[in-house]
Amino acid sequence: MKILSSTSRIIFSLTLLLAVACEPKKEKAADDHRWWKEAIVYQVYPRSFKDSDGDGIGDLKGIISKLDYIKSLGVTAVWLNPIYSSPNDDNGYDISDYRNIMKDFGTMEDFDALVKGMHERGIKVIMDVVVNHSSDEHEWFKQSRSSRTNPYRNYYHWWNADKGKPAYRYSLFDVNHDAWKYDSISDAYYLHYFSRKQPDLNWENPKLRQEIYDMMKFWAEKGIDGYRLDAFQFAAKDTLFPEFPKEFEKDFVKYYAMQGNLHGYLQEMNKEVFSKYDVMSVAEGAGKTFEDAHNLVDADRSELNMAYAFDGVDIAKPEGYSLLKFKNTFSKWDSAFAAKGWISIFLANHDQARMVTRFGNDKPEFRDASSKMLSTFIMTMRGTPYYYNGDELGMTNIRFDKIEDYRDVPTHNEYLYQKKNGGDLNKLLERLKFDCRDNGRTPFQWDRTANAGFTTGTAWIKVNPNYTTINEAAQEKDANSCLNYFRKLTELRKNNVALVYGKYTLLDKGNEKIYAYTREDNGEKFLIVLNFSDSNANAAVSVDANTKAVLFNYNEAPVIANKDSITLRPYEAVVYKF
Ligand code: NOJ
Repeated sequence: MKILSSTSRIIFSLTLLLAVACEPKKEKAADDHRWWKEAIVYQVYPRSFKDSDGDGIGDLKGIISKLDYIKSLGVTAVWLNPIYSSPNDDNGYDISDYRNIMKDFGTMEDFDALVKGMHERGIKVIMDVVVNHSSDEHEWFKQSRSSRTNPYRNYYHWWNADKGKPAYRYSLFDVNHDAWKYDSISDAYYLHYFSRKQPDLNWENPKLRQEIYDMMKFWAEKGIDGYRLDAFQFAAKDTLFPEFPKEFEKDFVKYYAMQGNLHGYLQEMNKEVFSKYDVMSVAEGAGKTFEDAHNLVDADRSELNMAYAFDGVDIAKPEGYSLLKFKNTFSKWDSAFAAKGWISIFLANHDQARMVTRFGNDKPEFRDASSKMLSTFIMTMRGTPYYYNGDELGMTNIRFDKIEDYRDVPTHNEYLYQKKNGGDLNKLLERLKFDCRDNGRTPFQWDRTANAGFTTGTAWIKVNPNYTTINEAAQEKDANSCLNYFRKLTELRKNNVALVYGKYTLLDKGNEKIYAYTREDNGEKFLIVLNFSDSNANAAVSVDANTKAVLFNYNEAPVIANKDSITLRPYEAVVYKF
């Protein structure tokens, strides 16, 4: 290399400085390109996806038989809900052996074949890691409960009864809302934030932590590409178990999330596991504040890649919701992470009722348009989209009339709790029709044959009777179906990096019916306009006859009313590219 004279060196440095200073200020998040930011994650709920052996329960071979379908959606990663050995108190979120496959789902060979099949199709595999708690049938717990001096005692949280009753802890799933369960074997209480069959693991014990990291590495060695950390924000505890204020349960996340050394454990997990493989990590829950969320996901902290917060999905209510609140929530999350950190975007998962019922409109005349409109929203926002299986067909809530039809453990326990405490059971049943998570767990509707083609046996939970009209086979044949529209959306996102990293700007902020925003990056600009209402609505956005509508959910693009506004039909969605 030619040696520069000192004068030319100074000039060179000055020019460089000037060039840097004049460069438009870029946001860091957008600069830092990663596969997991560009991923489109499709969530497969294995129990309800496809049954291969007629026992009424979806399984791994069933998923394998549908790999080409998954590929055809254009998604690039699949998040599998837990498939490990489990007595199924909470559909696999109660794990009795972290290194084995649940019998209902198949074998380890099936799992290996599934990962291979996904990878052959260019699809990454993300596994659920459920380590805030295990099953009470896990060997660790069996040992732990056997005596106060067992070497596994400290794998869980115990409170010896000689000290009296422990301070109240709220359980999300317990029939008495009580997270302490008395166990006569050792005359002590154990802690369970979820059901009695899901005792909380003691993260303060380094031996337990090492076991978990080894287990996580076991799956990474098998070739998986990422982890979704279930309820992990609750994992660390103050083991002195101090008294909490009365009625703390009304705001329990404040008392349960991000406690103790949680961030230290995540940094340790990152060092021991994530840093050793090309894997992504996402946490369920992001605490109470943006600061909490940043502490989980900011790259320089070496904890997780992203988290998903509940603020957005919590907005839907049976009586309806305010679009202004919806826009405000998503806009706030976007701006809080515009420069640093990364988030996930979702409107549904296995813990939510169906997206179209909650956020759109599942009446026959609006179901198709409103589910396409909601899909458009998810696929055009900044953040990694997580899309729940069945939503690509516009599947709807089943709305059971009887408690006996539900399978979900917290739903049954809440019913018993209300019954015992004089609650209004009819009111509860009505609410469940809107938000019980079993609505999102009914079998995938493949075709119009018996049981929607999901099983040849009796499905573990009833199939939604509307499968005769809403099903994959029918939508394959219809170029304008929700399914084919979803494929266009994934294509659009994958081909336009601006939709992944591009700056988000909210337009027509005060409009109560319309959600309009732009996404722009490196000279590429998109305008997305969505009508969230069941009537015509004007959007104050400027497009002209030359602006290209690259995707829309009616047969033709919306009418341009004048140079400053367009008129959208009920639940109409349009994406313009400038
Ligand atoms: C969150 C999971 O998504 C949910 O399905 C489960 O019931 C609880 N965590 C407990 O593991």
